[in-house]
Order: sequence, then C-alpha cells, then structure tokens
Amino acid sequence: MRNNIIFKGGNVQLVDPELSSYGAACNIPAPINRMMVKFASTFRDGVDINLGVGYVDEETIPRDLIKNAMTHVLADPVKYRVALNYGGPKGSPNLIQSLYDFHIKYNIGGLTKDILDKKQIIIGPNGATSLLEGMAHIFKKGIVITSDPKYFIYTSFLERSGYELLTVPEDCHGIQPELLEKKLASLGPRQDEISFVYIVTINNPTGSILKNERRRKIVSIVNKLCRKLNKKIPIIFDKAYELLIHDPAVTPLESSLIYDELDIVYEVGTLSKIVAPSLRVGYLMGPPGKFIQAMVQRTSDAGFSCPLITQEIASYILDYHISEQIKKVNHGYRVKAVAISRYIDEQLKPLGVTYCGGQATFYYYLTLPEGMHTYEGSRFYHFMSRSTGDRSVDCADNGEKKPMVSYIPGNLCVHPKGDLVEIGKRQFRIAYSYESLDKVEEAFGYFKEAILYCKA
Ligand SMILES: Cc1ncc(COP(=O)(O)O)c(C=O)c1O
Repeated sequence: MRNNIIFKGGNVQLVDPELSSYGAACNIPAPINRMMVKFASTFRDGVDINLGVGYVDEETIPRDLIKNAMTHVLADPVKYRVALNYGGPKGSPNLIQSLYDFHIKYNIGGLTKDILDKKQIIIGPNGATSLLEGMAHIFKKGIVITSDPKYFIYTSFLERSGYELLTVPEDCHGIQPELLEKKLASLGPRQDEISFVYIVTINNPTGSILKNERRRKIVSIVNKLCRKLNKKIPIIFDKAYELLIHDPAVTPLESSLIYDELDIVYEVGTLSKIVAPSLRVGYLMGPPGKFIQAMVQRTSDAGFSCPLITQEIASYILDYHISEQIKKVNHGYRVKAVAISRYIDEQLKPLGVTYCGGQATFYYYLTLPEGMHTYEGSRFYHFMSRSTGDRSVDCADNGEKKPMVSYIPGNLCVHPKGDLVEIGKRQFRIAYSYESLDKVEEAFGYFKEAILYCKA
C-alpha cells in the first residue's frame, strides 16, 4: 500500500500520478527551452533582438495566397470534398497527388515518375515534427545514428523516449562518411541495436549542406551494414530545408530515393519553411511496407489526420503557385544572407571567427577563437545578455539596459558524450529569419563588441 497521502489542516493532499519514464523526463525542461523561456520573460519588443528562435520570416508567409486558396477550396466541394470535416490518416488524396506532381514537374532531387511510382507518400498529423515523433513510437528502441551537432529538438525527444544517440561529427558539407564508418565499427556487436539513421540534409543548427557524394556514400555504408546484419536499417533524411537553398552556386541536390537498392531510404519533407508553419503540413516519402503502414495508424492515433482544410489549401498552392512562392521566399533569405556573410567576412573573420551557413536555410553556426566561450555564464553570454555587472557594458547613458541578443549556444547543440564537446563550448547558432535585416545587422555589431570585450 502507498503511504504517501499527506494530511494537512484536515485536507487530504494526494501525491501526483505516477509517470512513465518519458513523462518523468518531460518534467525537466530541455535546457534550450529553459533558456528561451528565460529570455522571453525579459524580452523588450523593438529593443532586444531574438536570434535564438527558428521561426520563419513573417514576410515570406503568403497571407493573400492562403486566403485565396481557402476561398477556392471551399467553393469547390467536388474536388475538395468535406474540407472542414475529419480527414483520412494517409492524408488528403489531393495533397498527395499535388506533392507527387510537384516533385516530378520540378524534378526535385532528380525524382522522376518511374521512381516515385514505386514510393508511397503520406501526410503526418502535425507537420514533419509529428512524423519524426511517430517514428519514435514505431521503431524498436535502440541506437539512433545522427550528426553532431544534432537537431537538438528531435534528438532531445528521442533521448527522453528512451533511445540512445550515436553522433557522427559533421563539417560544412554535412556528416562525414569516414567517421560514420568508424563509429559503426566501434559499436561492434551493438550494431544489431541500431534502430535507424536520422540525417538532416541541410542541418539545423549548422546550415551545412550534405553533399551528393556523401549522400551516396552514407547510403552505401548503411547498405553494407544491412547486408552484414541481414536486416533493413532505415535511413531517414529530414529534408526540412531542402527547398530553401538560396545560393545559386549550390549544386542541385540529389534525393537518395533514386539509388535506394534495399528499400531503406525515407524522406521527410515539410511546407513549413516555404509556405507557412501553421499549415502543419509534413510528408513522408519512401518504399511502401510495414513501416509506412504503421505510420498511417500512428497518424490516426495521434489525431486522425492533419486538418483537412490546411491540406487542401496546401494542395491548391502546390498546384498553382508554388514556383513563384519558393522563389519569393528564397529571394528574401538570400538578401539577408548576403549582407550577413559580408559582415562576418569583413568584421568577424579578422577577429578569428569561422562559420558555416549562408547558402541555404536561415541559420549561421559560428565558432569563436580558442579561449572564448558562448555557453550560459560565459563572458560572451553575459555581454550579449547585458549581465556582466559592469554598467558601462550593460547600460546606456540613460541607465536603460542596452539591447540583449539571444542565440543558441553550441554546448546545447553538440552531444554531451560526443566528439565536439570542447569546440561546442565556443560555438553558437543564430537564426536570421525572425528579425529584420536592420536588427540582425545591429546584433552582429554587438557580437563584434562582445568578442573584443572577451579579448580584452
Ligand atoms: C530539421 C528540422 N526538421 C523538422 C522541423 C519541423 O518541421 P515542421 O514545422 O513541419 O514540423 C524543423 C523545424 O525547425 C527542423 O529544423
């Protein structure tokens, strides 16, 4: 019998319900969430600068297009059946067809009708995130191979769910295949415990773009392992940012579905970054089979379907307006990226700063010179959060706190048991999507001041 009922002033106070190990893990906020909540609680609109959140640029969201699309959808109940009702767990047939047509029409990743006809497309209940979450339920818990730095939001969830991470360091061209081979070899008999491989093709936090040669090499390494273990190890390519390549110098990227001999490659995509996150449209493409079948059931369990109305809106936009929308979005990010890259090259590089990013997505991942740190409590962090304790640094002449700038420290992006712990302490991610270019440039001026302050 549990003897933990507490009597207090005549009232019975019951203890909290018992939680699963996942529930218990969720009671401790992830360090990044804790940091962002702390920043948000003191954030002064129009003064402080938020380069921490990965929101898309409001300017890129096509409000009128979405309004128009909704009008068309509701005016055509023959094509867009029961758009305000429940949808089916595989996703709207219109949207699935639109995604299929879109990939073929624009030859996305080199995908053709022949290849896509052998694959299945399903829509997740709530963006790419919900598909990634679904996978964690479907696969047997074990080891997940991923990159370092890692997509901290999903990997934090994986760990809370009971998965173990094995991280492989990346450089500016993505995860390094030779290191993947070494890490796999070091697992020895534990190779059999690998649940799946998860790779973000244009990484968050680094903005690194996984080169085509490396995509092929990674698939070939995992193929070899599958043959050795006589089982399929799925490779999930998260392509959240693959349509957000704004530097024309980048070689067109290949989809690994093209050379997937063993039916182990799956791609997760989203319309969040190129249309609007609030549509919550994420999709999974890959060989039909038990995994996708289970994912469909998972969608039903998680909420029946992605809201049908947003799926139909997305379908309409894909059918009629996607090309100019993608161009518009990428143009906006390009303008910002060119200005920021120039600033870093001219002002920060001479101070010893190196960086990754600027060709795709809206992230830069910067590395400060040795001896300077970015983690909470470091000199740099105190400077940017105006908490050095030195009034001349923290406050303006009128006594008001100078603008604070939020960023994601690298120590929270690298795996604490991985190879990049030391360098991670002097790295940080900035997202240049949420703030206007003026504000981002102002923030970079403060980064420069902070580096000079740390050097002093
Ligand atoms: C790598 C990666 N995957 C997935 C997502 C989430 O996509 P969605 O909005 O479709 O859930 C993000 C969002 O920032 C991301 O960075």
